Amino acid sequence: MIFAAILAGGIGSRMGETDTPKQFLALGTKPVIIHTIEKFVINDNIDKTIVLIPKNFINHTKNLINEHIGDNEDIIVIEGGKTRNDTLMNSIRYIDKNFGIDDSSIIITHDSVRPFVTHRIINDNIDAARKYGACDTVIPATDTIVESINGETIESIPVRDYYYQGQTPQSFNIKKLFNLINSLTEAETNILTDACKIFTLKDEDVHLVDGEVTNIKITYPYDLKLANTILGDKHD
Ligand code: CTP
Repeated sequence: MIFAAILAGGIGSRMGETDTPKQFLALGTKPVIIHTIEKFVINDNIDKTIVLIPKNFINHTKNLINEHIGDNEDIIVIEGGKTRNDTLMNSIRYIDKNFGIDDSSIIITHDSVRPFVTHRIINDNIDAARKYGACDTVIPATDTIVESINGETIESIPVRDYYYQGQTPQSFNIKKLFNLINSLTEAETNILTDACKIFTLKDEDVHLVDGEVTNIKITYPYDLKLANTILGDKHD
């Protein structure tokens, strides 16, 4: 089976001044998270879309889905975790418990606050996860990357051609991810902030999928303004 996990367990602290996590803020006529969920629900390759939410917003999310998308048994809303990685783990545990994990099961993990993910990106993720076991969506770095350890002076300026900006989705063969997670030491678990890092830590290949510059993550208030502009352009 192919699962999408929409990671929406965060509170959006960098958006500031609001009690509403950024995934629920309006983008055009719908909340950000609805735009994102729709991209996965209309993709025929995806069997189940699991939406992971802070506990006190679960009912709100179910209501929004009913209002904007309608009753849909392929959308499952469950509680997220304390960190983004914990949220991802909750989705894997849910899949294991309710569907089982076979050799070919795939999970496409996506930030709830990247509403402009495209059909092409999702399908390329599915193909790459099937073929290689793991993939990350990236775009080439456009700015020069400057490394500084102390925040005061430059340590190095790496060759830009070798650097990319990570977006999402990140997609995996679930069994492979599950086995790798279970092989981690506690020290390794503590340094992991990103599921692709688990693969690189264990010397497993993670294939690159081309992202899009419009596949932005809404982090700061300015990003929401930008998102509204992108949405307007798409309707032109
Ligand atoms: N996320 C999650 N579970 C968490 C933390 C984050 O599922 N415990 C999700 C967010 O909801 C978001 C995505 O991971 O869709 C990207 O994370 P980020 O932009 O850092 O979101 P927040 O943690 O909500 O933002 P902030 O760091 O500003 O608080």
